[in-house]
Amino acid sequence: MKLSVQRFKPEGYSADATVVFISQEDIRGKAENVRAHWPAASGILDSNDFTGAKDSVTVVYTGAKKSSRLILVGLGETASITLERVRRAGATAAQKATALQCESIAILLPSLALDAAEVAQTLVEGGILGVYSFDKYFTEKKEKKKLARITFLVDEQGDLNAAKKGMAMGEGIANGVTLARDLMNAPSNELTPEALANQAKGLDAVGVKVTVLNKPQIEKLKMGGLLAVNQGSVRPPFFIVMEWKGGKAGEAPIVLVGKGITFDSGGISIKPAGGMGEMKMDMGGAAAVVGALRSIAELKIARNVIGLIPTTENMPSGSAYKPGDVVTFMNGKTAEIDNTDAEGRLVLADALTYADRYKPQAVIDLATLTGACVVALGNVATGLMGNNPALNGRIREAGERTYDRVVELPLWEEYEELIKSDIADVKNSGGRGAGTITAGLFLQHFIGSYPWAHLDIAGTAMLPKGSGYLNKGGTGAGVRLLVDLVRTWGGPVA
Ligand code: BES
Ligand code: MN
Ligand code: ZN
Repeated sequence: MKLSVQRFKPEGYSADATVVFISQEDIRGKAENVRAHWPAASGILDSNDFTGAKDSVTVVYTGAKKSSRLILVGLGETASITLERVRRAGATAAQKATALQCESIAILLPSLALDAAEVAQTLVEGGILGVYSFDKYFTEKKEKKKLARITFLVDEQGDLNAAKKGMAMGEGIANGVTLARDLMNAPSNELTPEALANQAKGLDAVGVKVTVLNKPQIEKLKMGGLLAVNQGSVRPPFFIVMEWKGGKAGEAPIVLVGKGITFDSGGISIKPAGGMGEMKMDMGGAAAVVGALRSIAELKIARNVIGLIPTTENMPSGSAYKPGDVVTFMNGKTAEIDNTDAEGRLVLADALTYADRYKPQAVIDLATLTGACVVALGNVATGLMGNNPALNGRIREAGERTYDRVVELPLWEEYEELIKSDIADVKNSGGRGAGTITAGLFLQHFIGSYPWAHLDIAGTAMLPKGSGYLNKGGTGAGVRLLVDLVRTWGGPVA
């Protein structure tokens, strides 16, 4: 997206449409400034057809030679306008413009009781993400023209600088989310573990150092969890290491770990056929980590951040791992396999052990880990678990700020009973009850001596239906939260 900002002068800009945001109060107050610049809008402003209600939109044809379309987007009641409302309004505007085949829009930066830079940021986020589409495989594209240029129009010099700053932030964040979405939506015959590693390597273009460990190296490290899950697949596993050194030399890093199952058939404990194709998105955690690192590097955030991704398919075959098997992990612990479909925790276990070598300030793992999380929280919130209340608090706050929201679940020791094994240290499935928590508890067996949090994004990473700036399919959940968390990181957690 080409972004720019300039002082607002009627006729002093060119775009296929002009976007103006209007609150319900503006409408009740006659919206005089809109009428003054666009007299043609008087008709609709005098009618009750457009009330400025949130998520509403209408188009006025002004008859002007330049920018003859005026897109009016409602913001609702002034007192209830939040950044999330603004983000959604940005999506509404961009979607309407796209439907009208506009390649460029000029947005009048609304003056709200919110930080102007954050308003510009969220408008850009909503705008870019709202018109996201995955059309790579259509031989004939649905949209003939794509929105490619957004110009902000501001009234004051101060807003000019705020808009510039916010725009860059919004674009940096949206680029990471878009990358995560593309990785998730890619089919597993193309996005193999090797292809995922190559995509991660692409981040060297923004200054991220990427190292990819191959199967012999994984064997040498004794990553028994990753190797067990990989046994049934004809494609080799990889362990991807990404390093962003934006912080002071010697400052302990924040480590992000992402589940990278490029296809989860369930293995020998095979999943039912219905909807199995969605499991091409079982690398949503990996996508979030790659996406977040892209944004963090593009925005040159002054922290040291490491991304770790264990990646493989989970397939049934004559060589596949089986229920009843006992697996020995990198840290020497053992697990009895109760269900080969509980594979995510096995690959994450080794990655959590590997993370300890960085002496990290914190480790956060993200995974499309349990169907139980979708049952508990639906597609609205990510499940948060962890061993450090201060870290959990920071994550919760980042979730609220970005609307990439999380809800905490307890890792109470009473639940450990469910994953006790008769023959090994732990069992990889705890049965039906508290499935999200027992998965979190399993992971806790493999962490090092660092503050740790686990995000179960099974419900938020993939959606059955789009809404606002969130699309059907892979959403890039976790990217906005992680970027905000790292950006606002206040040093070591208590
Ligand atoms: N990848 C799935 C979890 C999942 C389900 C993600 C639906 C997104 C949507 C995971 O590997 C899995 O299969 N988990 C099992 C665990 C069980 C066997 C203990 C599950 O949730 O059923
Ligand atoms: Mn599974
Ligand atoms: Zn899985």
